[in-house]
Order: sequence, then structure tokens, then C-alpha cells
Amino acid sequence: MVVQSNRLRSSVIRQPSSAFSHLSLHLRMPIIAPSLLTANFLQLEEDCRMLNESQADWFHLDVMDGRFVPNISFGMSIIKQIRKTTQKVCDVHLMILEPEKYAEEFKDAGADILTVHIEACPHLHRNIQQIKSLGMKAGVALNPHTPVFLLQDVLADIDVVLIMSVNPGFGGQKFIPQTLEKIKELRKMIDEKGLDVKIEIDGGVTLDNAKSIVDAGADVLVAGNTVFASANPADTIRQLKSI
Ligand code: DX5
Ligand code: ZN
Repeated sequence: MVVQSNRLRSSVIRQPSSAFSHLSLHLRMPIIAPSLLTANFLQLEEDCRMLNESQADWFHLDVMDGRFVPNISFGMSIIKQIRKTTQKVCDVHLMILEPEKYAEEFKDAGADILTVHIEACPHLHRNIQQIKSLGMKAGVALNPHTPVFLLQDVLADIDVVLIMSVNPGFGGQKFIPQTLEKIKELRKMIDEKGLDVKIEIDGGVTLDNAKSIVDAGADVLVAGNTVFASANPADTIRQLKSI
């Protein structure tokens, strides 16, 4: 458990810039979390090796149930296999109803971070406590229509907020521009409370918009299509890392 916590912490680089500290600007190197939804499952081991050798920080693993979202992806058995290939952070994004029924199984499969959707959790506080008591970092995801102020009363209890910048369910969609305002608002909430909560952006992240997303205050960039549909995925990850 300690190893996993350190792994999460050490992959986060956030340095206040003394020259600009009065403007609350930060020099940030984003955490890069390629989404394996778009990986080639016939050569999953190769794709995992590529990610391990690349500058990717987290493996982003999208679980869909065909109920919360109109698509079905993969579950614990695939995550267990992926876990065997890597020491990097396994960031599991649950797009499922009743995530409390499966939290322990995802822990056993090797999840370091378990993210649930606020829209799927009428008892979100209980979900967060469950995830943390199982020894994982807790994330909460928001759909594009869900305002960030709804997190006010749980923000201090969580490690990651995942803002969906497309409607969840599919890779390869177009980034919703309004997301930039949500990031700024959430950044302000987190900084005003002096919290260490990562802002993760998921959906439609490209080499063209990554800088504006990080400038708005994001810490983590999820990228599926941009990485796996590119001619040289490792180089694309390097470019995202150094935007
Ligand atoms: C969509 C998933 C994303 C998806 C992102 O519901 O949560 O993680 O894989 O794919 P791109 O980067 O292609 O939009
Ligand atoms: Zn995702």
C-alpha cells in the first residue's frame, strides 16, 4: 500500500514559480495517463511495454457497464493482466452503476486509483470512504453537464477529480470547450482550500489543446486516440509531457 501511495505521489510534479508566485501561476509538467481503451487488444502486452518504456505516468483503464454509459469495455480480469505488466499507477475509471459492489474486486485486480462517477453514486461520501478504506486513492468523475461546485463537501476527502471533457462511453470524440472554465473554477476551489487534489481531464485531449488544458489548471491528461492512433505513440506521449 505504501509503495502504491509513493508511486502516485512521486509521479506528480508541481513546482510553484517564485517569479510568478504573486500571480498564483505554477510551472506544471502534466501527468500523462494514456487510455488503453484505444489500445490494440490483440497486442496488449506490446502496448503495455511501450507505455512502460515511455514517459507515460499512469495507465488509464476505462470500465464501462452498458448501463451508466451506452458501451461495454472490459473488467477486472483484463485489469489483472495489465497490472502484471507494469509498476506504473493503474488509474481505474469506473463508468458503472453501483460501483460499491465491485470496489474490492478492483482493488484485488490491482487498481491504485479508483474513480467513480458522481452521477452514479447517491451515497458518494460512502463510496469515497469505501475506496479509501480498501487502500486505494479515491477519484470522483463529473460528466460534462455536472457542475464542479457539487464537490464542495467532499473535496477534502478525495485525491483526484476527473472532469469528463466529452460524454463518457467512447474514445475519439471532440473536446467540449466549456471544460476549460470548469477546470479554472475547480483549480480555484482546490487552491483556496489548500488541498492536494489532482485535476484529471478525460476526453478529446490532443497535442493542439493540451497546453490550454494545463494552463487552465489541469494536472493529469488522459489521452486515448491521440496516443494510440498516432504513428509513434511513445513520441506522442513525450510531446504531451513537454507541452
Ligand atoms: C471515454 C473514456 C476515455 C477515453 C478517452 O468515456 O473515459 O478515457 O478513452 O479517449 P480519447 O482520448 O480518444 O477521447
Ligand atoms: Zn476515462
